[in-house]
Amino acid sequence: MADHHRTFGIHTTAIHAGESPDPATGALVPPLHLATTYHLGTAENGAAIFAGEKEAYVYTRWGNPTVAAFERKAAALEHAEAALATASGMAAIAAAILTIVKAGDHIVSAGAIYPSAYHLMVTQLGALGIQTSFVDATDPANVERAIRPATKLVYLETPGNPLLTLCDLEAIGAIARRAGVATICDNTFASPVNQRPLDLGIDTVVHSATKYFCGHGDAVGGLVAGRAAFIERCFTEPLRYYGGIMAPFNAYLMLRGTITLPLRVERHNANALALAAWLEHHPAVARVSYPGLPSHPQHALAKRQMPGGFGGMVCFDLKGGIEAGARLMNAVKVCSLAVSLGDARSLITHPASTTHSVVTREARLAQGVTDGLVRLSVGLEDVEDLIADLDAGLDRRQ
Ligand SMILES: Cc1ncc(COP(=O)(O)O)c(C=O)c1O
Repeated sequence: MADHHRTFGIHTTAIHAGESPDPATGALVPPLHLATTYHLGTAENGAAIFAGEKEAYVYTRWGNPTVAAFERKAAALEHAEAALATASGMAAIAAAILTIVKAGDHIVSAGAIYPSAYHLMVTQLGALGIQTSFVDATDPANVERAIRPATKLVYLETPGNPLLTLCDLEAIGAIARRAGVATICDNTFASPVNQRPLDLGIDTVVHSATKYFCGHGDAVGGLVAGRAAFIERCFTEPLRYYGGIMAPFNAYLMLRGTITLPLRVERHNANALALAAWLEHHPAVARVSYPGLPSHPQHALAKRQMPGGFGGMVCFDLKGGIEAGARLMNAVKVCSLAVSLGDARSLITHPASTTHSVVTREARLAQGVTDGLVRLSVGLEDVEDLIADLDAGLDRRQ
């Protein structure tokens, strides 16, 4: 089903792209191929395969039919020529970046990115002689100013951590192209249902497939999607040798999850928008950040760049600070106090009393993580139940 996405809607693409009945059995569901190694047939056939004259599965780190089916489906959804599935989102980010930069090269990165991606650049890539400048990428001019002769990559995430700020992908893509610099966008928060960075001129997309692609909180994985030649290099250079491939069983779960990705994301979007609008009028809440609200400073950009919807992530700041955050975490019964996102279950965190309790208040505030900041990955439950759950944990006497 080549070029599936050009002719079919997103639900049809999510269900059918990358799949065809199994030639051996007729099975409609792509079989789970757990084999690590494949019969080469004859010595002559083996020689032809190794000489690159014949394509065949040989060894699962080099390719697996279940993983390949997930890669085809993901590529179709992102409007990419090809995709590569990896062991985790971090494996995807590392493989994509290391395909582009070498010792002596420079990266311009948005400052508002997933903290482990930030640490990868500062510690691991720094030790390899790759420097990164972090900028406030909400203004494309800051990206342009930071580009130097050694810059090989602009790295973006939108909506970004921790406050759901946006980068203008079309504007930054054009700046990078003019400078001859490659671009990567982490599209985890939006998913391809809401935003397609490749259509906006970004070269490569990365994902933590652990989140919306999987959708059920039971498999870790990652994706790199983009031009076929880049994906091939990403596979034959960093991924093959660092070895962070996706396990076939995880690919099977991802395939199953992806079939309902557009349906689930529509519901995440609707629940999150309703919750964000309700929170904005709650007396205990000082501020809500959600790209779908007219109060979001980049709402106009969100409407342009996220045609499918504004995603399932909502951030809000409690007037009561640390104590109010801890109270809410202990009160919720439908939302789970847990990290991660994109699950069918609503997941809630209060960074100041949990994930960020180990960093100093000053460092935390410098990252935009205020005392009362709450991050909510809005799930697929009935929104009335989510509202009642949060309301029970919020103090109305503010
Ligand atoms: C935006 C974003 N990118 C990347 C990652 C890393 O993904 P993984 O945990 O699958 O390695 C995460 C994880 O939370 C994330 O939120």
